[in-house]
Amino acid sequence: MKKSALVLLLFYLLAACTSAPGDKSQVKPTTVPTGPLRQLAQQRGLLVGTSVVYQPLRRDATYAATLAREFDVITPENVMKFDATEPFPDTYTFGQADTLVQFAQAHQMQVHGHNLVWHQALPDWITQGTFTRDQLMTVLKNHVQSVVSHYKDQVNMWDVVNEGVNEDGSLRQSIWERIIGSKYIDLAFQWAHEANPRAHLFYNDYDAEGMGVKSDAVYKLLKGMVERGIPIYGVGLQMHISIDRPPVPSDVIANMQRLAALGLKVQVTEMDVQIEIQADPRSLTERLEFQAQTYSAILRSCLAVKGCESFTMWGFTDRYTWIPQAVGHPDQPLIFDENYRPKPAYKALVQTLAP
Ligand code: G3I
Repeated sequence: MKKSALVLLLFYLLAACTSAPGDKSQVKPTTVPTGPLRQLAQQRGLLVGTSVVYQPLRRDATYAATLAREFDVITPENVMKFDATEPFPDTYTFGQADTLVQFAQAHQMQVHGHNLVWHQALPDWITQGTFTRDQLMTVLKNHVQSVVSHYKDQVNMWDVVNEGVNEDGSLRQSIWERIIGSKYIDLAFQWAHEANPRAHLFYNDYDAEGMGVKSDAVYKLLKGMVERGIPIYGVGLQMHISIDRPPVPSDVIANMQRLAALGLKVQVTEMDVQIEIQADPRSLTERLEFQAQTYSAILRSCLAVKGCESFTMWGFTDRYTWIPQAVGHPDQPLIFDENYRPKPAYKALVQTLAP
């Protein structure tokens, strides 16, 4: 064999056996993987999670069994929000959130606390109250530190500030921004860190997954926080998307990489993929297949970035998705159907995670 051909053969053999640093993709054997997701993901150094709603966990045995089998991190979808945990001034109600945390602990799952500061899910005493800047700072500090302290030994990841940036890149004019000012963001992270120095603290937002005006603004916000020494650990990219305009994977990777270059960890925190798009000519089968490809592409983007540590969906069965309540019509955005049958999207995630 000519020397040049031998060198070329050696090059391809070497390329087939090595993976780029930080790239968790590897050569795959021929066996057909079956799951569960948490086992496959753990082998790739990744957490795989879902949001959890309280009622089904209590009343639907299949919901609980599927949850325990497939996921190793859970995000309480609603029961840790301001309106659920402090419905009245200095009156804290943790019962339902405690149930979710206890379930997680019983099934060796981590809990991603959600969320401490947001412009939604606020009780009337906040939205209808009148506060000076100092009064509202005291209210917010007490809330953040009471909730984080209550879960100090059980929850070590928190969405501290949720959705603080508008689509145009400006700071959202929430009650927190309007009365306290933009410093509320730094303060919330500092207060949460004081309450639990071990917790990994995240900024979480939507429509900032790829490259664009809003993701540039989120990047600039977080870069400033890092430079000021604010105790921020990572960023959550929510990934509420649809088959008619999925983010470009190369843009998602570029955005994740620039955030990781700040020293931050990255997580996909709330993925769902709507398929009921008006005037979409594709059959249901074709839309479910494209949904599967979309889930797989975002998972591959996370696997390709060393700093991406978790892949979480906003629910796992179409039976309990939030989407119909939000958009006013049915949809099938998740990876199991409403009878807990795995959809093409589930199989695509298994295939993507397979060793
Ligand atoms: O619990 C009450 C119930 O007692 C009452 O009868 C019923 C009728 O009004 O409302 C119930 O509360 C609802 C709650 O979900 C629990 O089902 C709220 O009205 C409803 O607004 C709330 O919607 C949630 C929404 O956040 C607002 O908090 C969705 O389920 C939840 O999926 C959604 O999740 C957000 C993330 O937290 C942040 N990122 C975006 C994502 C989607 O909007």
